[in-house]
Amino acid sequence: MNRSFGVARVSLSHHIGRVNYHRSIGRQEDRSGEVAGGPALIAFCYGMAMNMFITGATGVLGRTVTRLFVESGHKVRALARNSENESRLRDSGAVPVRASLSDLPSLLSAVKDCDAILHLATRIPPSSKAGHRAAWRDNDHIRTVGTRNLVDAALEAGVPTLLYPGIVLIYPDGGDNWLDATTPPQPTSILQSSLDAEAEVQRFTKAGNRGIVLRMGSFYGPASSGTKQMLHIARYGIAMFFGQARAYQSLIWVDDAALAVVDGLAKAEAGIYDVVDDEPLQRRELAATLAQTVGRRLLLRPPVLLLRLLAGKDAMFLTRSQRVSNRKFQSATGWSPMVPSARLGFRLLSIPP
Ligand SMILES: NC(=O)c1ccc[n+]([C@@H]2O[C@H](COP(=O)([O-])OP(=O)(O)OC[C@H]3O[C@@H](n4cnc5c(N)ncnc54)[C@H](OP(=O)(O)O)[C@@H]3O)[C@@H](O)[C@H]2O)c1
Repeated sequence: MNRSFGVARVSLSHHIGRVNYHRSIGRQEDRSGEVAGGPALIAFCYGMAMNMFITGATGVLGRTVTRLFVESGHKVRALARNSENESRLRDSGAVPVRASLSDLPSLLSAVKDCDAILHLATRIPPSSKAGHRAAWRDNDHIRTVGTRNLVDAALEAGVPTLLYPGIVLIYPDGGDNWLDATTPPQPTSILQSSLDAEAEVQRFTKAGNRGIVLRMGSFYGPASSGTKQMLHIARYGIAMFFGQARAYQSLIWVDDAALAVVDGLAKAEAGIYDVVDDEPLQRRELAATLAQTVGRRLLLRPPVLLLRLLAGKDAMFLTRSQRVSNRKFQSATGWSPMVPSARLGFRLLSIPP
């Protein structure tokens, strides 16, 4: 990484430090790059502290994003749903705000005088319940009603920027072909609410603002409970990658996703971008790499029928082959993943924290 950032230096250490990666954000000293996107963007790039409001700040992505912004001197307000979260948010340096995504007046006061809103909240049901459509109701509500209320609040309060992390799972099965934001989505009943949220972001942009959608690959990293579960099951000889051996799966290391939020906010124009690693692997490669991580010769991949029995027909989109390209986001922002493929990422997971 040869970009020059100064003043506020924030490093994502833990595992990444061990591969000698150091990354800082905010308060950019190199002013040669073109800046588009209005006063908030200029403020972010040129060293002024920004006010932001984050939903989902206690989540896997939200925790790292919050830390990055707080440690680089920006002012973070974060939605808190209970007192336990209030104290966690305070500990992270954010200011907790009691609000509800269902309650427009509470959001209006939460976003007052903000430069940007990051809508990182979600509620994915545990895999044991994912087969029941009703288990997705809260998640649908957060994405549809929640995003609509946030956009309404942002428009009324004059917040110029809103960022929402979508999901690459909305793409169709593309076989060996590369997919990106120009590929028409193929939603299912579970995925539709993410496209509804994207439509709200588009409404925000059409009103003259900067709405950014970052469609992200599946998260993995030491802090992700999904990753811990994947490693646990792999130690019993099973790789939970469903679908054909040659099918591609697009992943993103959690810290890279968080840095993409930072870079998207700092540099991206309104639009839809894909945030995945550089080299999506086929499922047979993922299983082989994961086997090395847990010290086994090979791992078995369960049959698709098991997914259907466990999670139901609505979850069959998880078997799609999705070889997603991050090229548009890289060229718009200069972001590039520290962990370019699961070949490195799974190796990093084998290092004890
Ligand atoms: N995980 C992935 O693989 C993945 C892949 C692509 C995109 N994304 C997107 O990335 C974003 C963050 O995902 P994540 O994995 O970091 O999520 P996560 O770890 O499950 O965290 C979810 C966050 O949402 C909050 N939340 C839950 N229900 C809420 C509600 N009713 N109102 C307000 N906040 C609520 C939670 O707060 P509490 O602590 O109060 O429960 C928590 O802070 C989401 O938009 C997700 O769709 C995730």
